[in-house]
Amino acid sequence: TLVRPSVPSPAKLVARDALEATARELALSATSVEDLARTFAAFDGCDLKVTAKNFVFADGNPNARLMFIGEAPGAEEDRQGLPFVGPAGRLLDLMLAAIGLDRSEVYITNILPWRPPGNRNPTDTEITACLPFIERHIELVRPQILIPVGGTAAKALLNTREGIVKLRGRWMTYATPRMDVVPTRAIFHPAYLLRSPAQKRDTWRDLVAIRRRLDEDGNAAT
Ligand code: URA
Repeated sequence: TLVRPSVPSPAKLVARDALEATARELALSATSVEDLARTFAAFDGCDLKVTAKNFVFADGNPNARLMFIGEAPGAEEDRQGLPFVGPAGRLLDLMLAAIGLDRSEVYITNILPWRPPGNRNPTDTEITACLPFIERHIELVRPQILIPVGGTAAKALLNTREGIVKLRGRWMTYATPRMDVVPTRAIFHPAYLLRSPAQKRDTWRDLVAIRRRLDEDGNAAT
């Protein structure tokens, strides 16, 4: 018989559904960002918690109009307990500065709050377990514009198998049963831009489009 190891067994799929249901119930019980941080930190359904040093929840201003969602903490983020504080974070700060923003004017989080060992890619199971918390996080922040940072975040949030090359460069939408449509613009991950600087040109176009949309939609809040 042919066994394809990349396809989870029915038993694994059932376990994953149960995990997701538990995560969703916990996440939905949170009624504020602080509440969600406590609930998520106490969640034991993601094994990465065992190996990570710190829970990395968010940085910046939860009342901001722009919400950035990256993939997962790296070594420096794990050490400090803050997202995007390593080399990729420094480039993200420069990208923000290019459109006249700094960290106090945006809100930044990740799909996963715990560092995968050795920065390996997160597994589908890890993402499935944490996604209900991210969705709740977005609902509680209710940003005016959502920015998935990199392919992993874009695929998870937009529930697609398309890669970032196809997903960036255009406006998309994100909504949940409890939240109206949020205009969404995926961008290349700064860690990728550090390796492939030629893609900075396209990223600049995305940043300009984001800035323009912010200006069009008014200057309420930050
Ligand atoms: N890469 C990410 O996706 N998130 C971080 O917080 C740091 C690096």
